[in-house]
Amino acid sequence: MTLLKDKINYSKLPCHVAVIMDGNGRWARERGSHRIFGHQNGVKAVKETVEGAGELGIKYLTLYAFSKENWLRPHEEIEALMNLMVSTINSETETLIKNNVRLMVIGDMQNLPGYIVEKLNKVIERTCENSGLTLIIALSYGARWEIAQAARRISGDVVSGKLKAEEIDEATFSGYLLTRGIPDPELLIRTSGEFRLSNFLLWQLAYTEMIFSKTLWPDFRKEHLYKAIIDFQERERRFGKTSEQLKCD
Ligand code: FPP
Repeated sequence: MTLLKDKINYSKLPCHVAVIMDGNGRWARERGSHRIFGHQNGVKAVKETVEGAGELGIKYLTLYAFSKENWLRPHEEIEALMNLMVSTINSETETLIKNNVRLMVIGDMQNLPGYIVEKLNKVIERTCENSGLTLIIALSYGARWEIAQAARRISGDVVSGKLKAEEIDEATFSGYLLTRGIPDPELLIRTSGEFRLSNFLLWQLAYTEMIFSKTLWPDFRKEHLYKAIIDFQERERRFGKTSEQLKCD
């Protein structure tokens, strides 16, 4: 029997995979438990995905852990999620270092409690020289906010004379986003059978292939990642061209 992993074409790996981890609440409800139980079990799926991506040789993995809109959730859920982030970072730091993973965070850090920012910055600093997988956690992140703050900083640079208005093109704009220097995701996975982008990487996902999985996030395992990559590799990415043109490229 051929293993799913053996069907992956390593010369056609997506360089950057982004994941909308969804379905923790429903997973818990199905078990008659509180939503927080779902988030706790979601950590296992995070570990599997990070490990799986690293083992395959994927260069960038972005996980949508907490959106700007998630601040509207009940206070006790937010607090539990923040505690879960800190305890996971604490327990996983050495494994990240051992596995040569570089940690990055994108989002509105000003909204996050100081103790979390401090903790994150320490791990970011400790892993900044690592050359394996770059793990990007989107925390207190919203794409419209990211685009608006980029526009604000661009206009500031135009007013101060650092940048000319006519120099603003797609590449310049990308350089003002939090993902500057990081290639756009080639593959987006959203779990739990929902078909939405939920304000995630709206600029960066312009040409991304999207895979929607029915699996609820706490059940997501390496095999689900492999399956998404295999599906991605079977697709033809045309970037606006025709199939015939691609054959000549
Ligand atoms: C969405 O499920 C999930 C989240 C808002 C949180 C994801 C966070 C984790 C998995 C915790 C740990 C993360 C890291 C990076 C250490 P939902 O609550 O919206 O589920 P529902 O749609 O079924 O209600």
